[in-house]
Amino acid sequence: MSADENSWWRSAVVYQVYPRSFADADGDGVGDLAGVTSRLDHIASLGADAVWLTPFQRSPQADHGYDVSDYLDVDPLFGTLGDFDALVGRAHDLGLRVLVDLVPNHCSSAHPLFQAALEAGPGSPERARFHFSPGRGHSGELPPNNWPSVFGGPAWSRVTEPDGQPGEWYLHLYAPEQPDWNWRHPATGVLLDEALRFWLDRGADGVRIDVAHGLFKADGLPDLADPDIEPMRLRGNVMACDQEEVHEVYRRWRRIADDFEPQRVLVGEVNLLPHRAARYVRPDELHQAFAFALLAAPWDAKAWRTAAAGLLEGAADTGSPVTWVVENHDVVRAPTRYGGGERGLARARAALLAVLALPGSAYVYQGQELGLPEVEVPVEARQDPAWLRSGVTRDGARVPIPWHPEPSGTHGFSAGGPGALPWLPVPTRTEADWGALSVDAQEGDPSSTLELTRAALRLRRRLHADGVVHPDDAATVCTMAGGLLQVERAGTLLAINMGDVAVGLPDGELLLSSGPLTRQGESRALPPDTAAWLRR
Ligand code: NOJ
Repeated sequence: MSADENSWWRSAVVYQVYPRSFADADGDGVGDLAGVTSRLDHIASLGADAVWLTPFQRSPQADHGYDVSDYLDVDPLFGTLGDFDALVGRAHDLGLRVLVDLVPNHCSSAHPLFQAALEAGPGSPERARFHFSPGRGHSGELPPNNWPSVFGGPAWSRVTEPDGQPGEWYLHLYAPEQPDWNWRHPATGVLLDEALRFWLDRGADGVRIDVAHGLFKADGLPDLADPDIEPMRLRGNVMACDQEEVHEVYRRWRRIADDFEPQRVLVGEVNLLPHRAARYVRPDELHQAFAFALLAAPWDAKAWRTAAAGLLEGAADTGSPVTWVVENHDVVRAPTRYGGGERGLARARAALLAVLALPGSAYVYQGQELGLPEVEVPVEARQDPAWLRSGVTRDGARVPIPWHPEPSGTHGFSAGGPGALPWLPVPTRTEADWGALSVDAQEGDPSSTLELTRAALRLRRRLHADGVVHPDDAATVCTMAGGLLQVERAGTLLAINMGDVAVGLPDGELLLSSGPLTRQGESRALPPDTAAWLRR
């Protein structure tokens, strides 16, 4: 087996598919696996190396798949196991690897083991699989501790016991429909090991592990000294994440992954500060941990410098290359986050070029290659469980993506014809011209974001193939006067103008820029909100 087969992930560009919103082959308004398969050639045409599919396992969809009721099956909404096999087969034919999402911290309240726990009552071995506990207060009317749910409200819900009386409470760090597994119960590890093996056996090239820093909770579930923690992030709850015991799980999973041929890859959603996240990518644990710093950084050269330098330092220390990412299904789309309109789009294009030019691997979220903005989903159509509990909605980044410029209907998302209603409404012409942003509308237009993405990926591939750059390159990050950010690695320089006025283009051969350059006298200049990749 070539070294390449085991280390492809170090420099991979992974395209994230949110199956509900990618392509709907059966016309029911929700995307599905057959739809993904039918559109894999689009992902291959970008030049990506792999696809990460967010959850498609059996699930009542309370958190759109992050509430799993059967880890070993495909939800009928998305198709069948046969559809998964066909997807993997086609992806591999196209040279794309496939990563599957594994959700080990919690399951669905519809999972048969949780249902059995509800029925079995207090003190039963069935309840020991989860975190059930009597409440506090006079008659148990208060939650057992003061932990907040990441989605807002308390992290506990009270159950009605089989005798019809209000009874124990159970822990759910996310929605009430997502009870947390008790990882101190030996059967939990066995169940999730089986799930991991199942998808790897079926041909997945690796897994993305949801809430990888979760799983174990501090023994005794003690109160938080300060329960007023940052919303939508688990990491503030120091009692509910980043416990030492979790590393033993990843050591075991690494042995499982390494036993496959070619070896399989483990990428963790480890939303911790870099020095803690680094501990998850020790040589015998996960291959990579998602880098969240740029997802959170505003459009500001100093903020980017701090974020990028910290991540690069971490990679140098751990030997695990950075997974650069500026968009995913949980955050506001970059063009909107960076200010909206033309300016926001220009910045998002610069950020896209940046993540592809930095050393390591990169994640591109579906629609990012089209420059899609966040959609203002009408309140009555919002579906995110976080919206109901805390007023935060992630729906605007999850709207079905446009394939055709047709003036009505679903812009090619759904095979259901003009009457088919997608699960989230796509914008009408008056809100944002979704059709003008479609794949077909951008195809072949050299100024489009789609063609910029392709050009950047072609260039990246060529520079790697020619040995000009390597995924493990050391890089230095600095900010220059006027908000110019520069990242220098062995053969190339990335420059992003994050300031308000044009600056002279740094020396070197221009390889690609995210937008047109301007002139300053005789020389070329980098306008605001533009990135350039130069050969040195
Ligand atoms: C992280 C996922 O990306 C998010 O969409 C989900 O709601 C939570 N984990 C809970 O599973």
